Amino acid sequence: MYISQAAGGLTEGRLHALAASAATFNRLAGVTGVLLTDGARFFQYFEGPHDGVDAVYGRVRSSSSHRGLTEISSAVVKSRQLPHWEMHAIAVEGEAIDRLVAACWEEESVDAKAEKESGMKVISDLLDLPRSSTRG
Ligand SMILES: Cc1cc2nc3c(=O)[nH]c(=O)nc-3n(C[C@H](O)[C@H](O)[C@H](O)COP(=O)(O)O)c2cc1C
Repeated sequence: MYISQAAGGLTEGRLHALAASAATFNRLAGVTGVLLTDGARFFQYFEGPHDGVDAVYGRVRSSSSHRGLTEISSAVVKSRQLPHWEMHAIAVEGEAIDRLVAACWEEESVDAKAEKESGMKVISDLLDLPRSSTRG
């Protein structure tokens, strides 16, 4: 997962086209996940087989539609968190992106003492998922 800044002039129409192209490619690559945007920033989480994830990340990194890509976490997950989520762009408040950036993304280190909230919990809150469907 990463955050980035939308390039100037990224219209809603272009964003739709980008998301459609992403969804088509991801389906073939076996990659699922979610793309959130507050209009100025992107937050994207995606998961799948290593080769699929690498191919998608290559496309993401070479896109001129955003800049300042900063990786938040890249980890092996035991099972898919969002198995049924084909990529599409969802509009959220800027506050939601801030919460995602501040969240804890290391699965194993989330304990009772942790002050940060779990990143996947934030995602499931934002997507309004029943907690069970975010588990494998
Ligand atoms: C924020 C963002 C997320 C993207 N996510 C994906 C993705 O999940 N899968 C994919 O194949 N391409 C993804 N792309 C790349 C686009 O689908 C498309 O290939 C690219 O934007 C076209 O190049 P351009 O942006 O330079 O016009 C993403 C691009 C951006 C900016």
